[in-house]
Amino acid sequence: MRKKTVAGNWKMNTLIDEGAALAKDIVDIIHEVPSDVQIILAPPFTHLDRVGGIISGSPVALSAQNCADKDKGAYTGEVSAAMLASAGCRYVILGHSERREYYHETSATLNDKIALALANGLSPIFCVGERLEEREAGRHFDVVGNQIREVLFNLTEEQMEKVVVAYEPVWAIGTGKTATAEQAQEIHAFIRSTLAGKFGTLAEDITILYGGSCKPSNARELFACKDIDGGLIGGASLKAADFIAIAKSF
Ligand code: PGA
Repeated sequence: MRKKTVAGNWKMNTLIDEGAALAKDIVDIIHEVPSDVQIILAPPFTHLDRVGGIISGSPVALSAQNCADKDKGAYTGEVSAAMLASAGCRYVILGHSERREYYHETSATLNDKIALALANGLSPIFCVGERLEEREAGRHFDVVGNQIREVLFNLTEEQMEKVVVAYEPVWAIGTGKTATAEQAQEIHAFIRSTLAGKFGTLAEDITILYGGSCKPSNARELFACKDIDGGLIGGASLKAADFIAIAKSF
């Protein structure tokens, strides 16, 4: 079901003790967030066990930032979806633009990752979004539409129900530039109608998050849009007060 959701993507930030302190600060003030808002933390792999312990018993859910495209075996340095599930993760971020750009993840790899995540009971937070030059050329609908068709259209309805989509315009990530509420709503509505083309009315139930320099000062306007169900937060998720302020912005 469509759910108000705020997920913190810590990326490659914080040492374990710092991450533990951040998680504890968040848990300490989580009661300020209305109970219909799902809060998710995605710390680095090394922090999952410790952060998982801190948030256990609270309404906060644990996510990883990536998983392997292989089940198990001789893949040095990789972390499998099954391992993440056994570490207490309920979610995994897949297809973040930083993974697509710096680690050359393609739709082919993402098809394997998403299948493994779902097979292991994880809900993928599947990221899509266009680069600046693509938006300037008016190609953002094509780019985002293709990212969705090449991966999510391969899922069954039962699988799609478990997926959260995050729209993150690459030009807005970590840059301080945010899509305007109109730009964001326009493409969120496009994402929902694209999903409806394949999955019918189920599209109304899919949670679609906005990501890209979302902060306490702009979250309210973004979250007020009809097709924006919350945010995937990078930089602002590293401060408990800012993250919680965003989560209170519905
Ligand atoms: P940002 O990152 O909030 O720092 O722009 C968002 C993301 O990449 O998830």
